[in-house]
Amino acid sequence: MKIFLIGFMGSGKSTIGKRLAKLLDYSFVDMDLQIEKVMGKPVISIFSEDGEDFFRKTESEVLNDLIKGDNIVIATGGGCPCHSDNMKLINQNGISIYFKMAPESLFQRLINARRERPLISSLSQDQLLVYIKNTLNEREEYYLKSNFIVKGESLRAETLLDLLNPVM
Ligand code: S3P
Repeated sequence: MKIFLIGFMGSGKSTIGKRLAKLLDYSFVDMDLQIEKVMGKPVISIFSEDGEDFFRKTESEVLNDLIKGDNIVIATGGGCPCHSDNMKLINQNGISIYFKMAPESLFQRLINARRERPLISSLSQDQLLVYIKNTLNEREEYYLKSNFIVKGESLRAETLLDLLNPVM
């Protein structure tokens, strides 16, 4: 079984994913960390030195590699489901869960977590909220293809376990 966590930056995919993997006794992979491992540099440097297109290509390659694994919880990057055929690949190979959050909640989480995130690192507070609203609007059509949709605010790994129980 492979479980893919889907959602915008700051929606808690890595934090909850780690806990969920522990509860299931699965391994956990954060796609961004996996990309950093493969490339030998931080995501922010990949964006600035190699460009976003190169990052997206690498992201799809890493995803194609990860689907070969089993008993794994994968925290995807916020843009991953929206590029190439990634969302299709995700749904063909496992269970996807979208952590849906209001733009204002994402804003609160991201306001002090911009530095390592290339797409928002140079945005002011005002620009950040506009960016979140616009980008979420564009991306939701992909996110909403997930098998399950859960409210990301106050989400607990135990809630996901209850959700997954009938299909596991
Ligand atoms: C991105 C989200 C990031 C990372 C990269 C691009 C995006 O991952 O993949 O900065 O396009 O939303 P997180 O969602 O883990 O922050």
